Amino acid sequence: MLSTVDKAARDILIANDRGGYTVPTAGMYPYQWNWDSVFVALGFSTFDLDRACQELETLFDAQWEDGFVPHIVFRQDDPDYFPGPSVWGAGGKIPTSGITQPPVAASIVLRLWRATSDDAIKGRLAALFPKILAWHQWFHAFRVPKDLGVAVITHPWESGRDNSVEWDAAAATVDVSRVEPYQRRDLMHADAAMRPTNIEYDRYLAMVDFGRQCDWDHKKIATEGPFRVADVGLTMILLRANRDLAALAEVLGEAEAGTELRGFIADMIGGIGYLWDNANSVFCSRDTISGDHSGVVTNASFLAYYANVGTNDQREKLAAHWQRISKATKFMFPSHDPDEGRFDAVRYWRGPIWAVVNYMLAIGFQEQGEEKWAQRVTEDTRNMIQKFGFPEAFSPVTGEGTGGKNFSWTAAMWLAWCGRSDWYRDE
Ligand code: GLC
Repeated sequence: MLSTVDKAARDILIANDRGGYTVPTAGMYPYQWNWDSVFVALGFSTFDLDRACQELETLFDAQWEDGFVPHIVFRQDDPDYFPGPSVWGAGGKIPTSGITQPPVAASIVLRLWRATSDDAIKGRLAALFPKILAWHQWFHAFRVPKDLGVAVITHPWESGRDNSVEWDAAAATVDVSRVEPYQRRDLMHADAAMRPTNIEYDRYLAMVDFGRQCDWDHKKIATEGPFRVADVGLTMILLRANRDLAALAEVLGEAEAGTELRGFIADMIGGIGYLWDNANSVFCSRDTISGDHSGVVTNASFLAYYANVGTNDQREKLAAHWQRISKATKFMFPSHDPDEGRFDAVRYWRGPIWAVVNYMLAIGFQEQGEEKWAQRVTEDTRNMIQKFGFPEAFSPVTGEGTGGKNFSWTAAMWLAWCGRSDWYRDE
């Protein structure tokens, strides 16, 4: 029997389906977004495996020849969203943005593979393998310098954590004097207090201009772009995804790919120390231009468990942050440290809780023996959804929704994770 909440979650996915791909929410985000779609595929897989595969296939249809997979796929022009396809000036037969997003596809495809015995579905998942591999190769060619071993983002949107405090110092150095006048469209759909500020938007656009002006030359953007920050979130997610893709290579008998992926994993394990900030006892992002750590504790810091990195000593220090933060807010895990001055319970990635990050945290905690933490983030997310529905994100102080409403990925996380009592059994 479907519960009322299960039914509401399915209805959101179905309502946000635009025929083969799903929008994050109607109105505010009218296109296909990269990591949203992958989480949505996991949600669909709980009741329609064919549709789950299709979501992944349509995303990879927009892959560029060099392996890059864009953060937005523009199948039509929509006046509700800015910056649209003409501002980006990117893509091949399908217009796209010119930056990417955290690569969660390998991990979700592995989970789908393990959960099905249907040969036709397995065949479709196997067909995605070379495409996902090409994307990881692209990351290691253009975003993970071999001598650094961590993933460098070239735009805050590439992290998926758009206005995190982690980008403040690095983004403040970006020259916005040549940004042409523009009109924000996001404010038509959400309260300005819950969105990034205007100066942040100016910087976002200056970075897009740099990419468009060099015709999305990934090498040039990675070496000369105005914003180059080693992102703790993307690094942990890519390291995990490399491990999961290596597991998939193994079951598919892709020995050569397996060897290559083990090389990527070794590079990243070797590099992870670059993101440990001794002064603040935490894994955090680090500006590769200035060398400065962001110095703050975020939900992404705790993805160290999901990536299975960190020494015993580092984990003890993270545990101290957990103790402190779990006392300071009612719900876990906030996207920014509530004891730091820039914490804002409703402003996007500067405080609110995001279900998809909590999902990855729960997996990491469960696997690494922190079962109480896994239970806490799972139950908190479940309770907030039961009480407040499927918003974009949640206030860690009150549990209420922040940002937009009826979000696909929040619904997907209910279906595949926190709405199920047995979620960890298929991990
Ligand atoms: C915002 C989020 C990003 C997400 C997108 C669509 O830009 O920060 O992570 O992919 O919205 O939901």
